[in-house]
Amino acid sequence: MSNKKKTFYITTPIYYPSGNLHIGHLYSTTIAWVLRNYKIKMGYDVKFLTGSDEHGQKIEKKAQEKKISPQEYVDIQSNKFIDLWKKTKINYDFFSRTTNKYHEKIVEEIFNKMLDKSLIYKGEYKGLYSINDEEFILEKEAIKKDDNFYHPISGHKLEWIQEESYFFKMNKFTHWLIDYVEKNKNFIIPKNIWKELKNNFLDKNLEDLSVTRISFEWGIQITKDPKHVIYVWLDALFNYISALGFDFENPQKDFIKYWKNGDEIVHIVGKEITRFHCIYWPIFLKSLDIRLPTTILSHGWLITPEGKMSKSKGNVIDPLSLLNKYDPEIIKYFFSSKISIYKDGIFSEELLINSYNSDLANTIGNLISRTISMIRQNFCAPVKFKKTNNNHDLDIIKSISNNFEKFKKHFDKFEIDLAFESMLHLARDLNKYIDLTLPWKMKNNLDLLETTLNLLLNGSYAVLSMLEVVCPDFVNQFKQILNVDNFDFDEIENFEKFNDISINENKIIFPRIK
Ligand code: MSP
Repeated sequence: MSNKKKTFYITTPIYYPSGNLHIGHLYSTTIAWVLRNYKIKMGYDVKFLTGSDEHGQKIEKKAQEKKISPQEYVDIQSNKFIDLWKKTKINYDFFSRTTNKYHEKIVEEIFNKMLDKSLIYKGEYKGLYSINDEEFILEKEAIKKDDNFYHPISGHKLEWIQEESYFFKMNKFTHWLIDYVEKNKNFIIPKNIWKELKNNFLDKNLEDLSVTRISFEWGIQITKDPKHVIYVWLDALFNYISALGFDFENPQKDFIKYWKNGDEIVHIVGKEITRFHCIYWPIFLKSLDIRLPTTILSHGWLITPEGKMSKSKGNVIDPLSLLNKYDPEIIKYFFSSKISIYKDGIFSEELLINSYNSDLANTIGNLISRTISMIRQNFCAPVKFKKTNNNHDLDIIKSISNNFEKFKKHFDKFEIDLAFESMLHLARDLNKYIDLTLPWKMKNNLDLLETTLNLLLNGSYAVLSMLEVVCPDFVNQFKQILNVDNFDFDEIENFEKFNDISINENKIIFPRIK
């Protein structure tokens, strides 16, 4: 048997650097980062990609407004994302920029290969286009108001365009895609996303896709027909493999390891960009005989208690303003534990503070500080594990194992909020165990007291191991207090790990927010 680690490659959407930073960007990236952390703790060999999507008409227009070149503009703007990930302590392996020369070269080669394989033909695009969403919209999908057309989801105004364009033969792959998705149940999660896409696009004759534009210049030019630049979505989607070193002839080792022969490949996307990821992306890959990702995970939107965030309503939350007030781990904890990724989730500062105070300061913070102070008051040597037949003890041992199993089961199904609910369930059980067993009344039975406190210590270790997936910095501070080097999943059910460890003085790691 080989001990080679399984690989896991996870990506966020690469964001447009043209708009302001949005709390939604931080949400998607947090989800991907938390999954990355979980897989690392599970022993996988993990790579995590994020980046910025830097070509297209929208960027060109913004740069013109600012009177600088598009390249200067994206250089400035993409740094805002890099800075955001630094401030939120989100570490990644690749920051993919579509203006990177290697990416540009690969995308042009891909386009040429598509031409050689007769997957692309020249024609004329006549129809509506949303510059803001960089998306072609059929007239029947658009919303018509006062002689203007609007995007059905984002509401952006649509332009009428008529220009020479190359088209990709999407339609040819309709049956293949339907068949593929139906056979591969985990390819698109959640399932209702696929149902909608199938109803709206595949069952109604999938249109061939316009894959070049001629009315602006900021994009990857086709050397063979230089007035054309490649459609920004064809360009952007391929970042997921160009960043790993994809090449038709000489692919680099990361591409071979994490994509071609990789075990799991997961794309995290917001629900509004599933059409590109769940229809066009698999078809592009299939058309070139490139392996498909394992899962495209679509999440809902963050909304405010009053509804959708939008520029026109002026209620878009800037992540930087939140970071001026709250530790990034408080925000990342809220996103991971209080929002089901399959639905739209409400964000407000009040909910954020409540989740921190109730889960981290009260439930987990109190559990650990009570445990530590009882150990230090009663024992000056390590508290050892002893076999026990007491029902409360057996129940708590079972709760540690069961909740850890549930945590993993939920994570493996991308039910991140439910996974953290299992962690909290265990923390609540441990607090109840203290209230039921009343350790402060055990002074005349030190054996029993030692068993109880050892189980509380092991339970706290289990809670912190799970919490570390989203709050590594908070949890790191407990290492010194509990005198451990790591919080390993593999050690959770080893109840003897504290037998030789003396516990240090407690510090307040989770002060309440008033
Ligand atoms: N550049 C494309 C993606 C190309 S991927 C090959 C793009 N960029 S974007 O800047 O508009 O980012 C969209 C993504 O931001 C969404 O898919 C989602 O991940 C995130 N969010 C933006 N607003 C959001 C919310 N209100 N709520 C949650 N996430 C949302 O599309």
